[in-house]
Amino acid sequence: MAQPELIVNALNISFDDVSVVNEISFSLNKGKTLAIVGESGSGKSITALAIMGLLPATAKITGEILFQETQLVNASRNVFQSIRGNNIAMIFQEPMTSLNPVFTVGEQIEEAIKLHQHKVARKTVRNRTLDAMEEVGLARDRFSAYPHEFSGGMRQRVMIAMALVCKPTILIADEPTTALDATTARQIMGLLFELKNSRGMGMLFISHNLRLVASIADDVCVMKQGVHVEHGAVEDVLQNPKHTYTKKLLSCIPTLQRQ
Ligand SMILES: Nc1ncnc2c1ncn2[C@@H]1O[C@H](COP(=O)(O)OP(=O)(O)O)[C@@H](O)[C@H]1O
Ligand SMILES: [Mg+2]
Repeated sequence: MAQPELIVNALNISFDDVSVVNEISFSLNKGKTLAIVGESGSGKSITALAIMGLLPATAKITGEILFQETQLVNASRNVFQSIRGNNIAMIFQEPMTSLNPVFTVGEQIEEAIKLHQHKVARKTVRNRTLDAMEEVGLARDRFSAYPHEFSGGMRQRVMIAMALVCKPTILIADEPTTALDATTARQIMGLLFELKNSRGMGMLFISHNLRLVASIADDVCVMKQGVHVEHGAVEDVLQNPKHTYTKKLLSCIPTLQRQ
């Protein structure tokens, strides 16, 4: 079997000696989706931010985060700058706060290219931006629209375009549909899944919603208060949960049918 793209091994994160992530381990292969599921405050976002090198300096991190062969725990700014966007990209829960209201959506996608890849010709940047907009289902002629002119779902499409425009091999999606209505959430999930498949990316999908996970993930890692309580193939964990916490999460959901 191929070496996983991302390996997290015995990861610990603490703030002021208070542990928020405790001995978490998982791995992600190309083309696969790993869901991290748990209640609010269980350490999901902190784990994702550690992978991206986006935790505040007050965070103490030990253990291993390996992207291909590169160790990311306590890696330098330069290492993170070269990996972020180009190899591992992330989208967040609330698309409005991540977009700048004074720039057009097209300009912001262009910025994402310029930030991660220098020396790309202006015309190439523009063409890649328009292609990215089309790929996420936004009309090319909306390049000059401002974020406030877009619905929540369209803003999340902009964020997806910004995340994917430098062709990362891993996408971290941290509760990407929580702020959206159910219909829009389904459309955004469909888009993410389609892009993951067409590009063969690995996706780390963070959610508190097991119904979503059941329909898209290959593997699931259940977290509770910073600790890993259950981990395995999604069918096994959902159909035969071993831990009472997983059972509790499952009992909140009326039906669990893989689509
Ligand atoms: N900058 C920070 N300083 C101290 N504690 C933090 C910080 N960020 C998050 N935490 C704590 O870490 C825990 C996990 O948070 P988080 O990963 O955001 O949870 P979630 O699973 O909801 O994404 C929470 O108890 C939170 O209060
Ligand atoms: Mg979170």
